[in-house]
Amino acid sequence: MQPLETLVREAQALADPTAEPTAEVRRVLQICNACRCCEGFCAVFPAMTRRLAFPPADAHFLANLCHSCGACLHACQYAPPHEFQLNVPRAMARVRARTYADYAWPPALGVLYQRSGLTLSVALAAGLALFLVLALALDGSLWQAVPGADFYRIFPHSLMVALFLPVFAFAVLALGIGVKRFWRAAPPGPAGPQLGAAVAEAASNALRLKYLDGGHGDGCNNEDDAFTLARRRAHHATFYGFMLCFAATSVGTLYHYAFGWVAPYGYTSLPKLLGTAGGVLLAAGTIWLWRLNRRRHPLHGDPAQQTMDRGFIALLFLTAATGLVLMALHTTPALPLLLAVHLGAVLALFATLPYGKFAHGVYRGAALLKWAIEKRRPSTIALGDD
Ligand code: HEM
Ligand code: HEM
Ligand code: SF4
Ligand code: SF4
Repeated sequence: MQPLETLVREAQALADPTAEPTAEVRRVLQICNACRCCEGFCAVFPAMTRRLAFPPADAHFLANLCHSCGACLHACQYAPPHEFQLNVPRAMARVRARTYADYAWPPALGVLYQRSGLTLSVALAAGLALFLVLALALDGSLWQAVPGADFYRIFPHSLMVALFLPVFAFAVLALGIGVKRFWRAAPPGPAGPQLGAAVAEAASNALRLKYLDGGHGDGCNNEDDAFTLARRRAHHATFYGFMLCFAATSVGTLYHYAFGWVAPYGYTSLPKLLGTAGGVLLAAGTIWLWRLNRRRHPLHGDPAQQTMDRGFIALLFLTAATGLVLMALHTTPALPLLLAVHLGAVLALFATLPYGKFAHGVYRGAALLKWAIEKRRPSTIALGDD
């Protein structure tokens, strides 16, 4: 391998803020591969040392493995204001935006990622809610107490299924095809009998958000350089809140179709308990993430993606908050109005799932699994090479 100075000189020559994001990751990782100071921080550096070159597919894989914790930025002697302008989390974040667009299905819709901002997300939720509100107003059923809080009298069950199922099924299909293409671009090789262990490790790393611990357990770097577990905890509240809401809807669907038990369910029923706990967690988690997002140092990640992040945070919050208000007031004449607003938020969330920030969970999950498989295979780089 070439001496560090030569590599750095070559890499510096490539430094260009307008460079193709995967080329910038290649530049950055060539320097890191010679330095290796940050090896213990996360999975990116051990995965990097298994490579001598970084073609675009590998750059996409490593970018989705990076959790943007900031540890390597704060530790790096070449980070800004150094002339090399080495900023690993930003380079990785810029490639992640390309991952979502480049692997999107159908490919023509990849451009939507650039548009999925805060204004569009909130406007979509408001527009869809308004559409449903106007439909109820024309029907004369916008403001009325509904016997037994039976919301199917307002929007029949079949209408809700016809509205949500196709949108949700399309989101699953589009993200599924996207992640399959991502996987095939740089497959980790056969996992063999180790597959079970690799899946368990990847799931545990995703569920614990292991790589937001900064490599030492104290968490990410704050905007003021101190360590914080706040991002990890706020994400946990958001993630588990979302999962509980999802579980509530799934249990409700099971009750409906398998047992013939029709909603609304009582306050101590499983769907209600899961939904309430999930809604409170999700609303609290998104408020917390929003505050942290607004405080983040511009060098942590890619400021151009802030609006996509905030749009997703806002839609999650609106869905949880409108659900909770609906539940609290479902015995009042406000039920139809609040139901229309909640369904508008849910529809906007589902519609933007495949072309917004939600994609990160799917690609990150795949990258964590790739790494868990790859690390169990012998490295193809001979020991003497470095
Ligand atoms: C495999 C599962 C997941 C992993 C490993 C993961 C990991 C991460 C990481 C590392 C970040 C910070 C870097 C970035 O902005 O990309 C992040 C951001 C975020 N995640 Fe996840 N995530 C997962 C799933 C989810 C799910 C299911 C939700 C909620 C539905 C969610 C909600 C968010 C939100 C709202 C942000 C933006 C926070 C901000 O920009 O301040 N994540 N996620
Ligand atoms: C298929 C899509 C969905 C439909 C048709 C739907 C419909 C409803 C209805 C009718 C209620 C009122 C329940 C009651 O008052 O008894 C409700 C409540 C709620 N919804 Fe949704 N919702 C959907 C998806 C979601 C999603 C994806 C989330 C969050 C991510 C969510 C969060 C909530 C919360 C927190 C409540 C209040 C707690 C509860 O009643 O369980 N909903 N939803
Ligand atoms: S980020 Fe900086 S300190 Fe860390 S490995 Fe790369 S060059 Fe070395
Ligand atoms: S920002 Fe954190 S997760 Fe990303 S490469 Fe650096 S140390 Fe690893």
